[in-house]
Amino acid sequence: MQVKSLLAILATVRLAASYGWSVIDINNGEWSETIERDVCIVGGGASGVHAAVSLIDLNKTVVVVERNDYLGGGTHTYVDPETLATVDIGVVVFQPIPVVFEFFNKLKVALLNMSSVEVNKAGQPANLSLPAAMFNTIRQDADFRDGSEVTRSLPLEEAEADAFRRLAEVYSNYSYLLYGYDLPDPVPEDLYMPFGAFLEKYNLTAAFPTIYQISQGMGDLLQVSTIYAIKYFNLDDLRYSSQGYFTQAHGNNSELYTRAGAYIGASNTLLQSTVISANRKNTTSGRLELLVSTRAEGLKLLSCKQILLTIPPTLTNLRGWDLTAEECAVFSQYITANGYWTGLVKNVGLNETVAIFNSAAHTPFNIPVLPALYHLSPVGVIDDVWWIKFAADNPTMSDAQVKSYAERQIETMQRARNATITKPEWLIFESHTPFHLQVAPEVIKNGFFRDLTALQGGLGGKMFYSGAAFHTQYSTLLWRFNHDVVIPKMMAPV
Ligand SMILES: *[C@@H]1O[C@H](CO)[C@@H](O)[C@H](O)[C@H]1NC(C)=O
Ligand SMILES: *[C@@H]1O[C@H](CO)[C@@H](O)[C@H](O)[C@H]1NC(C)=O
Ligand SMILES: *[C@@H]1O[C@H](CO)[C@@H](O)[C@H](O)[C@H]1NC(C)=O
Ligand SMILES: *[C@@H]1O[C@H](CO)[C@@H](O)[C@H](O)[C@H]1NC(C)=O
Ligand SMILES: *[C@@H]1O[C@H](CO)[C@@H](O)[C@H](O)[C@H]1NC(C)=O
Ligand SMILES: *[C@@H]1O[C@H](CO)[C@@H](O)[C@H](O)[C@H]1NC(C)=O
Ligand SMILES: *[C@@H]1O[C@H](CO)[C@@H](O)[C@H](O)[C@H]1NC(C)=O
Ligand SMILES: *[C@@H]1O[C@H](CO)[C@@H](O)[C@H](O)[C@H]1NC(C)=O
Ligand SMILES: *[C@@H]1O[C@H](CO)[C@@H](O)[C@H](O)[C@H]1NC(C)=O
Repeated sequence: MQVKSLLAILATVRLAASYGWSVIDINNGEWSETIERDVCIVGGGASGVHAAVSLIDLNKTVVVVERNDYLGGGTHTYVDPETLATVDIGVVVFQPIPVVFEFFNKLKVALLNMSSVEVNKAGQPANLSLPAAMFNTIRQDADFRDGSEVTRSLPLEEAEADAFRRLAEVYSNYSYLLYGYDLPDPVPEDLYMPFGAFLEKYNLTAAFPTIYQISQGMGDLLQVSTIYAIKYFNLDDLRYSSQGYFTQAHGNNSELYTRAGAYIGASNTLLQSTVISANRKNTTSGRLELLVSTRAEGLKLLSCKQILLTIPPTLTNLRGWDLTAEECAVFSQYITANGYWTGLVKNVGLNETVAIFNSAAHTPFNIPVLPALYHLSPVGVIDDVWWIKFAADNPTMSDAQVKSYAERQIETMQRARNATITKPEWLIFESHTPFHLQVAPEVIKNGFFRDLTALQGGLGGKMFYSGAAFHTQYSTLLWRFNHDVVIPKMMAPV
């Protein structure tokens, strides 16, 4: 965000506060409906939907406000209209932890242990009864800027295995990061040093190439503060990778959210809706009020005992909210986020036995130069359809720019491999941007996460927060955070 627009927002927030002015007051009660619920949940992604289901089971009434026309946030499944083959392009895998089995079982969605089945041999056709995510290819490396082949310098296998063993030991000192951001005071220096420096400090650089490959969407992983890297590819990944990850049995993770939507109920779900004004501090009813612009029914007033906010808490997203001084102080610290986009394209015409990874010859660890595609990989279950995962170190590129840049890189690879130059057709394209909101290292050092965590239960036990900014960009861990941390706090007597 530019400094100028930040200042403008701060000024608006102050104005609203000092004059007690809000849309709610001047609109004089003229909205189509007032919806009273125990809990208003803002954001229908992994955190918001899981919380809604959990709260219903605790006999709370809820309403979910979601800006998209579907629930599930970063979970997107492409369904091939001809064969009905499905391809998950957003959230793909889940760790084998109890909250995952509980959530899927409750909604009667079948899971598959990805370690329990045989995948195809590279070069052999995909097994169409397995999720697309399990299609196996040969990895080749090339620099997508010019298409040249790259030989990565990789650690020896034993050195890598040794580094991962020691990584688990070091990470176990930070096991509290599996449950939010409740950090010790003072904050350990390890957590705000650049991740590259942290790996060098503990002689763990042999683990980096694999960590980089898994930590998609983390931008320049060598430079991000270590705390973010530890939370994304985390201690549980190290613990559970040997036990197998899980995915929806037919590679259709969206099914979880379709079922969850039915469980929550259409009358409790406002899709394509956004909060345009909040009055949480000064209502005659004493309840919290959110004025919501809905898809087809104009403005609705939500009146709740508690609010759970799960969207990225940027000042831009919270325009119209009566932010407290504490909220403002925390949310105004975000200086950047990464860019991350996913999709599928058809008609690439390259060899479908091979996944080409973007690597650079002269960068540390051969990491690709962003913004760029991470790789170009065939999905296997639909002919000549390819995953597109595009990353940037910041969120500034528009969706149209990303698409055109991705097409250009595909063309570069086609030329380098003497393939026919085609015009790829986009089957699906989704933005996960802004991905991973970040603050500066010195802000972490000075207690940013203490202040963030202290917001829970604000406004006299009425205001709660979940979602990536309050924990991590990882569905499984967000569900456990809801289950173990946020919902118990919401249920505790004030
Ligand atoms: C609370 O709301 C009332 C009525 O809308 C208004 O007159 C009053 O100034 C508000 N108080 C504060 C502290 O904003
Ligand atoms: C929810 O309500 C049902 C039916 O009244 C009751 O059996 C159950 O114990 C309640 N659950 C909780 C967690 O309060
Ligand atoms: C998943 O399958 C693997 C291989 O069969 C097995 O070792 C592992 O225990 C399974 N995981 C779970 C959580 O059942
Ligand atoms: C495809 O996968 C299914 C499920 O794991 C398995 O039962 C079947 O034997 C596999 N088919 C082939 C041809 O490998
Ligand atoms: C550093 O790690 C490598 C393996 O990653 C190991 O072979 C080497 O002995 C370690 N060096 C020290 C000083 O611990
Ligand atoms: C974990 O922290 C303790 C206390 O700070 C320290 O002595 C120990 O060396 C750390 N362990 C690892 C593996 O870094
Ligand atoms: C995948 O899940 C979606 C959402 O529940 C559903 O509409 C679709 O029919 C499913 N497709 C297949 C092939 O299972
Ligand atoms: C595709 O790539 C594989 C692996 O390099 C190779 O064995 C195969 O011959 C290639 N196929 C074609 C049609 O070039
Ligand atoms: C592409 O064609 C050029 C010129 O015919 C040839 O030199 C080059 O080796 C070919 N590259 C590949 C990857 O086949």
